[in-house]
Amino acid sequence: MTQNSDTTDGGRRLRSQAWFDNPENPGMTALYIERYMNWGLTRDELQSGKPIIGIAQTGSDLSPCNRHHLVLADRVREGIREMGAIAFEFPVHPIQETGKRPTAAIDRNLAYLGLVEVLHGYPLDGVVLTTGCDKTTPACLMAAATVDIPAIVLSGGPMLNGWYNGERTGSGTIVWKAREMLAAEEIDQAEFVEMVASSAPSPGHCNTMGTASTMNALAETLGMSLPGSSAIPAPHRDRARNAYLTGRRIVEMVHEDLKPSDVMTREAFENAIIVNSAIGGSTNAPIHITAVARHMGVDLPMDEWQRLGLTVPLIVDLQPAGKYLGEEFYRAGGVPAVVHELMQHGLIREGAPTVNGRTIGENCRDSVATDRDVIRTFDNALQGDAGFLVLKGNLFDCAIMKTSVISQEFRERYLSDPEHPNVLEGRAVVFDGPEDYHHRIEDPDLKIDEDCLLFMRGAGPLGYPGAAEVVNMQPPAELIKRGVHALPCIGDGRQSGTSGSPSILNASPEAAAGGGLAILQTGDRVRIDLNAGTADMLVPDEELAERRKRLEDGGGYPIPASQTPWQEIQRGMVDQLSGGMVLKPAVAYQRVASK
Ligand code: FES
Ligand code: MG
Repeated sequence: MTQNSDTTDGGRRLRSQAWFDNPENPGMTALYIERYMNWGLTRDELQSGKPIIGIAQTGSDLSPCNRHHLVLADRVREGIREMGAIAFEFPVHPIQETGKRPTAAIDRNLAYLGLVEVLHGYPLDGVVLTTGCDKTTPACLMAAATVDIPAIVLSGGPMLNGWYNGERTGSGTIVWKAREMLAAEEIDQAEFVEMVASSAPSPGHCNTMGTASTMNALAETLGMSLPGSSAIPAPHRDRARNAYLTGRRIVEMVHEDLKPSDVMTREAFENAIIVNSAIGGSTNAPIHITAVARHMGVDLPMDEWQRLGLTVPLIVDLQPAGKYLGEEFYRAGGVPAVVHELMQHGLIREGAPTVNGRTIGENCRDSVATDRDVIRTFDNALQGDAGFLVLKGNLFDCAIMKTSVISQEFRERYLSDPEHPNVLEGRAVVFDGPEDYHHRIEDPDLKIDEDCLLFMRGAGPLGYPGAAEVVNMQPPAELIKRGVHALPCIGDGRQSGTSGSPSILNASPEAAAGGGLAILQTGDRVRIDLNAGTADMLVPDEELAERRKRLEDGGGYPIPASQTPWQEIQRGMVDQLSGGMVLKPAVAYQRVASK
């Protein structure tokens, strides 16, 4: 590897020199340079052709999941400086999953837009993308894809394991359990808070295989972070070492001109789908990976998740699909050990390149898992066929179901009819948004019983800006007390990656975009056939046509007023969940650094 600090790399002028060393425009050069010297940088540093490396800082007091990056950035800087380059750290719009109203998801595209402008408009030759909390990872990857300058992901890492009364408590997953216990009056409000807070014992992001751990694992699988890095817990010494090595490596990548378009190839995305099944990854992954692929210009229709991912077994025993947490996953070998296991069965596109300059196959060839309880062999998998089903019918054109979280109780109650295995039929109970659900779920007039399917609509990218994580609906307290812990849930919103609910979700088009859910009524019979991949209201076509006419005459499914300018702007150009919820005009802008 070169440690080049000449003004050119093999005759190639670095991008930053158009700002800092442009002989054709000495006037502008002076202007660009003088202000960056005002805090102590020297003219020589800026004009000697040293690469300028951005550190895209996603941590802040508003973003506790990523806050640790404020500390890690020092080690990144040391790596960058040691390789003869200069670090420019800058803030990324915060995205805190648990703190942002109405949804954190609406900020994914806003952070993306902001980061694209920074990477395009400032003198940066390469960038370290600090990731962690759910949407920070896709926002960074999407921007790197659009701009296409050398980029490397540095995950902040998961929190340490949570414990309560001698049992592991995992981020998010404990919330769903504690809510049930509260509803069943097994615990009081104070104990509820204590139980939930026990799952967050240190800096870092969620320690379950929720959306954060999933997206960081998939960023590594895509080849965008150093091998073995995504699972390192935030407080572990290896995390700071990884920050230093990441800082070193991005400088080499600039010299090699190794860009996101060289790494995030079609093969890399296929690997991400396959690994997602094996780790029991989040139902948000298809949305975010689709978005990254579209910005990269890789065609990856939602059907690919079933075609490539459904038959892959679940081999990682992490909550919510299993029982362990982030510390055990790291000790067992993390993503390289999962990839190694999948390689034994020919499931990995081994030639896919990665940021360290080697292929994923080379990186993971010797990464045998060191704890077979946590990362299993195929023979001892937690479940076969553990990927996503992709469903369609007169309710929607596309929705997914995560099969690895179908519990034994659910399977026996709903999917084991010997005459019709894997067919769910029942009476629809429809809610218009999460507030409606909370007001009415205990209403005895709804007559909710085991035969009911709960529907959530008005929760997609248009109906509830950013699409709310609300499809996993808890049954009425009466049912929980009788031992019914889950009813089938279907909707046009999302759900937390930490949820163990086998919902049918991300339905597109959403009700607010005129999807079939908009004309469903409480009391309709609905049939979900998991064998055929269909989801239909059993209502005659003429009746459906009449309902649609009435809806359209009445102005369509109601969309609440936007509360902020960004909500309105995003609503005007956002795609549906099956299309990655991208900003449609943004997809046309590709490889903008070279333009
Ligand atoms: Fe931020 Fe889970 S809430 S990582
Ligand atoms: Mg979430």
